[in-house]
Amino acid sequence: MLDAHAAGSRPAPPQTAAAGLPGLIGNSPAMHLLEAQIRRVAVSDATVLIIGESGTGKEAVAQAVHALSPRASKPFVAVNCGAIAATLIEAELLGHERGSFTGADRQRPGYFERADGGTLFLDEVSEMPLAMQVKLLRVLEEQCFHRVGGTDTIRVDVRVVAATNRDLARHVADGRFREDLMYRLAVIPLRVPSLHVRSDDIPLLARHFLDQLNATSRVDKRMSAGFLRQLQARPWTGNVRELKNVISRAHILADSTLDEVPPAGLATTSARRLPLDGGALEFAAGTPLADVERELILAALARQQGDKRKTAESLGIGLKTLYSRLRRYRIAG
Ligand SMILES: Nc1ncnc2c1ncn2[C@@H]1O[C@H](COP(=O)(O)OP(=O)(O)OP(=O)(O)O)[C@@H](O)[C@H]1O
Ligand SMILES: [Mg+2]
Repeated sequence: MLDAHAAGSRPAPPQTAAAGLPGLIGNSPAMHLLEAQIRRVAVSDATVLIIGESGTGKEAVAQAVHALSPRASKPFVAVNCGAIAATLIEAELLGHERGSFTGADRQRPGYFERADGGTLFLDEVSEMPLAMQVKLLRVLEEQCFHRVGGTDTIRVDVRVVAATNRDLARHVADGRFREDLMYRLAVIPLRVPSLHVRSDDIPLLARHFLDQLNATSRVDKRMSAGFLRQLQARPWTGNVRELKNVISRAHILADSTLDEVPPAGLATTSARRLPLDGGALEFAAGTPLADVERELILAALARQQGDKRKTAESLGIGLKTLYSRLRRYRIAG
């Protein structure tokens, strides 16, 4: 949503929230189709599977489904299935009783209970361990479960919206995802188009992000026509997230007019490092290791356009380790 400062400082951009959905900007035919689908599914209680490349806006779509549903005043709880250790995922989702495992010093409700009456968003659902998939299927079928270590039946009223940037059918063929669960989740599949198939939306999105940045930093920077042309010529493999990052970088670098699109890849500026050779980092001897690690992770993320799996692979660490570093260094995912 535009705030008054940004909206008042210039003529209103043409149909900014053209798709007419909270948090989702777009006026392309692909986005209008998605809007119609979101509106239709939102009012039902059907399970939704959101499919799209990294950075296309899957979480934003899940939030729109919730916001337009009769559950809007109840919680929207987002869980990243790829970020939770296999040994903990059942307790995280279903909760646990006191003493049910080492460290379980008190009873704790899980995400299902916290989402009662509302929507549970299961992000990166393809990463859920097979053992948990069986249990999830049962919860979806019965809307009740036991906490880990518990015997009481807990009943919940939760609408599940899941998302994946993977080919789930491929995961099924490889034996990594249960076919019955795939069909159960994908009662309504929603496909979020890649940014390159809706390049008409790029100027709208760019203006939206610029307005947000102007409002937060209380400035009134503009974009040149050349800047917008350069934006539209890019492939945007990291989709809307990459566009958003590029606009923030250009906004920092510009005095009053965003004129040149900064090169893809490296993220923030830091006094300690200099980008060399399209991706090399340079650190002064004596730089704290934690700073080096943080910068390295940021640069690797930027190089992989925010794709955490590829980033973890390129750094030679597991996905869960990457997530724990992101938390440690307070890097937004
Ligand atoms: N149509 C849109 N209008 C406005 N903002 C958008 C739109 N699509 C995405 N965004 C913004 O872009 C960023 C990335 O979107 P989001 O996190 O929903 O993507 P994602 O598909 O979940 O990505 P990933 O697969 O990497 O988790 C967010 O800041 C989101 O608010
Ligand atoms: Mg996401």
